[in-house]
Amino acid sequence: MKKIGLLTGGGDCPGLNAVIRAVVKRSIGTYNLEVLGIREGWKGLVSGTVEPLTNYAVTGILHRGGTILGTSRTNPYKSSEDLQRTLNNIKRFGIDAIIAVGGEDTLGVAWRLHQDYQLKIVGVPKTIDNDLLGTDYTFGFDTAVHIATEAIDRLHTTAESHHRIMVVEVMGRHTGWIATVAGMAGGADCILIPERSMSIEEVAETIKKRHRTGKTFSIVVVAEGFMPQGLDVKYEKEKTDDFDHIRLGGIGNLIGHKLEELTNIDTRVTILGHVQRGGTPTAYDRVLATRLGVKAVDMVVAGEFGNMAALKGSDIVPVSLEEVIKGRKSVNMELYDIAQVFFG
Ligand code: F6P
Repeated sequence: MKKIGLLTGGGDCPGLNAVIRAVVKRSIGTYNLEVLGIREGWKGLVSGTVEPLTNYAVTGILHRGGTILGTSRTNPYKSSEDLQRTLNNIKRFGIDAIIAVGGEDTLGVAWRLHQDYQLKIVGVPKTIDNDLLGTDYTFGFDTAVHIATEAIDRLHTTAESHHRIMVVEVMGRHTGWIATVAGMAGGADCILIPERSMSIEEVAETIKKRHRTGKTFSIVVVAEGFMPQGLDVKYEKEKTDDFDHIRLGGIGNLIGHKLEELTNIDTRVTILGHVQRGGTPTAYDRVLATRLGVKAVDMVVAGEFGNMAALKGSDIVPVSLEEVIKGRKSVNMELYDIAQVFFG
């Protein structure tokens, strides 16, 4: 084992640079291994765009959001030519093992390459959505929750002054982790998530009940992937990525419009969008990302391929990528039920 290839794929998230720094420092400092940075996820292996990562290259990046390697949602399995280029480039650059930092799509490709071609790959979980199986938390999530909570706090004061309903749309494509946790932390009066079906009429009823008790404003937090019961929400189907994900965003506007109609209360909508993914990671995310990066290198050296470094309780342990890509980690309904105690 001489050379590790390192890539970050999928949507970026705060903490990626902390992983890159940890992988490079552990590889060079502890094991005297070289690290080759692969640009923009799997795309860098398709196009053959790589750069050596030295200790110097990763100095001063711990606190920086984004990823110095760049990222993309490229799927090398999309075409047989791309797949062949990927395999050729791995050989051409003398990459002995790959550390792939990503979510379900990036790690899905990692697992397939490991299975189909016995490539030596170790995964590191990342996503602000926190919906990866096999790990208790993903880094980036804590930062996103902090940003969303701060936004909810700010919206609270203006909602109160104007006696309005404030609808806050947060990210969460398939799961409502950010909505649930930030909603709880920010004292939301209703939280709408993909895992819990609800009609807008029910939401309106909750708000009206609240206002009958003398409350003059309400905060509704909605995850972007929420589908209101009985309403057909249309997204632009042609705007899909390599993994066939449609581009979400905008459900908050629909909810806000309907709520205003049903309650007669002045309503405003805020879509937080990519603000949740940008900027400096929290201390928690920096530490989690650092621990995962160090463990991933240790796993490479120990030959634990086809696995992902994961957080279980307070430990970082290997889990099979096969387990990780089997499905998604939905919101814990016990947690949601606690949040619901404070609705209305
Ligand atoms: O990485 C997850 C995520 O942030 C989802 O919550 C969201 O739906 C998606 O990425 C947005 O992706 P993009 O950056 O391509 O708009």
